[in-house]
Amino acid sequence: MSKIISVHSFRGGTGKSNTTANLAAIFAAEGKRVGVIDTDIQSPGIHVLFGMEEDDMKFSLNDYLWGKCEVKQTAHDVTEKLGPGVAKGGQLFLIPSSMKPGEIARVLREGYDVGLLNDGFHALVEELKLDVLMIDTHPGLNEETLLSIAISDALTIIMRPDSQDYQGTGVTVEVARELDVPRMVLVVNKVPGVFNANEVKERVEKTYNCEVAAVLLHSDEMMTLASAGIFVLKYPDHAITKSYKALAKRLME
Ligand SMILES: Nc1ncnc2c1ncn2[C@@H]1O[C@H](COP(=O)(O)OP(=O)(O)O)[C@@H](O)[C@H]1O
Ligand SMILES: [Mg+2]
Repeated sequence: MSKIISVHSFRGGTGKSNTTANLAAIFAAEGKRVGVIDTDIQSPGIHVLFGMEEDDMKFSLNDYLWGKCEVKQTAHDVTEKLGPGVAKGGQLFLIPSSMKPGEIARVLREGYDVGLLNDGFHALVEELKLDVLMIDTHPGLNEETLLSIAISDALTIIMRPDSQDYQGTGVTVEVARELDVPRMVLVVNKVPGVFNANEVKERVEKTYNCEVAAVLLHSDEMMTLASAGIFVLKYPDHAITKSYKALAKRLME
C-alpha cells in the first residue's frame, strides 16, 4: 500500500523542506520508492537540498499544471544524490516547482486548477509505483494545502516553540481534524538547548491534544549545512538524525 505524507506548518521557515527531504532520504535508503513534490509554488526550495539547479529542471510542476507536459515528465530521479547507502530497490524522485520569476508570478496572478494537482498526486503514485509520496507544502492555509491535507494518509505539522507558531498551529490542527486525516503528528523544531525536550513535548501535546512525534533541538550543524545537503547523510549519528528516523518509522506504522 502506498502512502501520501504531507509536511505542513502554519508559518514559514519552520523546517518543512529539510524535514521532508530527510524523511524522503531515510525512506529511499530503506529501499522504498519515494516521490517528493514541491507544492510550495510561491516560494519553492526543496530542490536545493538535492543539489538541483534551475537548468537541471527539464519540466517543473508548473509545466504540468499549465498543461505543458505529463506529470511523470516533471519527476527527476535524484537517487544518486543519496550516495552509496541506498538499499536495493530504493529510488527517489523529485518533482520541483519552477524557480523562474515569471512562472512564479503567473501562479500568483492566475492560480491553477487544484483538481489537476490532485490528479497529479495520484498519477505520480501510480506511474512511478511509489511506496511513499511526500508533499512539501506552502505555509498557512490555502486551497492546495487543504487538498494535500485532505488526501494524506499522514500529516506532519511542524512548529517552533514561538508564540506566533502556537496560535497558527492550533488552527491547522483543527482543520486537519475536520478533514479526518488518518494520522496527524506534531514536530517541534528549533527548540533552544536550554529547554527541556520532555517538558516541551508534554506541554505541546496537552495544548493540542495531539501526539508530538519529535522534538528537534536547534542545531548549529543544521544551520551550517544551510540546506546545501541532506542532514541525515552528512550526520548519520547525530541526535536529530535519530529523531528523524523515529519520526519516519512512526509515520509508516
Ligand atoms: N533543527 C534545526 N536547527 C537549526 N536550523 C534548522 C533546524 N531545522 C531547520 N533549520 C534551518 O531553518 C531554515 C528553514 O528551513 P526549511 O526546511 O527551509 O523551512 P521551511 O521549508 O518550513 O521554510 C533552514 O536554513 C534550515 O537549515
Ligand atoms: Mg520550504
